[in-house]
Amino acid sequence: MQNFEFYNPTKIVFGANTIATLAKLVPEGARVLMLYGGESAEKTGTLAEVRAALGQRVVREFGGIEPNPSYETMLRALAQVREEKLDFLLAVGGGSVIDGTKFVAAAASYGGEPWDILQSGGAVVKAALPFGTVLTLPATGSEMNNGAVITRQSSHTKLPFHSSHVFPRFSVLDPSKTFNLPTKQVANGVADAFVHIVEQYLTYPAGGMAQDRFAEGLLQTLVEIAPRALAKPDDYEVRGNLMWVAALALNGLIGAGVPQDWATHLIGHELTALYNIDHARTLAIVLPSVLQSQREHKRAKLLQYGARVWGIDAGSEDERIDAAIHATRAFFEGLGIGTRLSDYGLGREAVDAVVAQLEAHGMSALGEHKNIDLAASRAILTAAL
Ligand code: NZQ
Ligand code: ZN
Repeated sequence: MQNFEFYNPTKIVFGANTIATLAKLVPEGARVLMLYGGESAEKTGTLAEVRAALGQRVVREFGGIEPNPSYETMLRALAQVREEKLDFLLAVGGGSVIDGTKFVAAAASYGGEPWDILQSGGAVVKAALPFGTVLTLPATGSEMNNGAVITRQSSHTKLPFHSSHVFPRFSVLDPSKTFNLPTKQVANGVADAFVHIVEQYLTYPAGGMAQDRFAEGLLQTLVEIAPRALAKPDDYEVRGNLMWVAALALNGLIGAGVPQDWATHLIGHELTALYNIDHARTLAIVLPSVLQSQREHKRAKLLQYGARVWGIDAGSEDERIDAAIHATRAFFEGLGIGTRLSDYGLGREAVDAVVAQLEAHGMSALGEHKNIDLAASRAILTAAL
């Protein structure tokens, strides 16, 4: 195991009817900006519950944060924070609203050009406004981590940043708030969490025995609950497990002290920025192809993954690896998620376009061995046609 520091200050308040606890979680004298997405949180009554819990505090609202939150939109929220001297942010929504809120929190405490935050990957962030979240979509893990991804629409640039200053102070996780999610978003959530685990686990053996077993347990839980999560929207136990697995998948625990990949995510971000494909769907397109192209580097872990997650223990090593990659693709397809570029109406022109964007964004040494150069990304995308 490599040396590591593990730090996660986010308080989780989990369970039914927990939104009322905002009354205690948000500081009494706070001047609050409540941020949300489109119509969903209003329609479901979640915003009304939040407003009631905030009581007499000064509360302003900023709605309209789009999926894959844009830099342009978040600059408007930043302007509102500055004009109205707001000092506490509250995100109500999925990963997009939470990520956008993290960016505003960091930008509000930064004197320079806000784009620097993304261009530096978060290195310029030295402080941020405090914020909390009310999660309505289990998927990204943003509710319990210090990362965010923002898209500059004008240049189709989708960049992540990380900073120890943008952990949420708290996140309220009420599984019943996910009952009315469209099936497509539930499938996306399962797939995104699955790939977060794989990106931190399916690399090469590093002696992280607990990390491996945690990762395998989380993957198995997703495989077990996925059909019920899709078929029974109001199954509280299943939705609760999905919510907690998605948070644990990317809160730092399973990735501590072990190598991490993230090639699938970084290639996927370009697909979203260019073609507006949902984040999780880009991962389902790219991951099987990454595993195939990296099968020699990932050989030992692919065998372990096949055996421990999918129970594949018969056949030659190569047959078992083929079966493990096949099981992964079949899992995504079983969620109703297409795993080929052609499923999204894209062909060879998309391969050229994505490779050009990877080059423009300096993404030419991806993966745990930094061996996925532009030619390798081209081969991965071509194999995903
Ligand atoms: O905008 P509204 O009307 O609220 O609708 C949203 C949105 O259209 C809807 N939704 C959310 N909760 C709902 C609901 N609809 C009905 N009932 C509810 N309870 O779902 C749609 C998608 O929401 P979004 O927040 O975009 O989805 P998700 O949580 O998957 O977030 C995706 C974003 O997170 C980033 C992605 O790149 C993408 O931009 N990621 C963030 C990460 C992080 N911060 O750690 C890691 C991830 O790898 C990922 O990159
Ligand atoms: Zn993701």
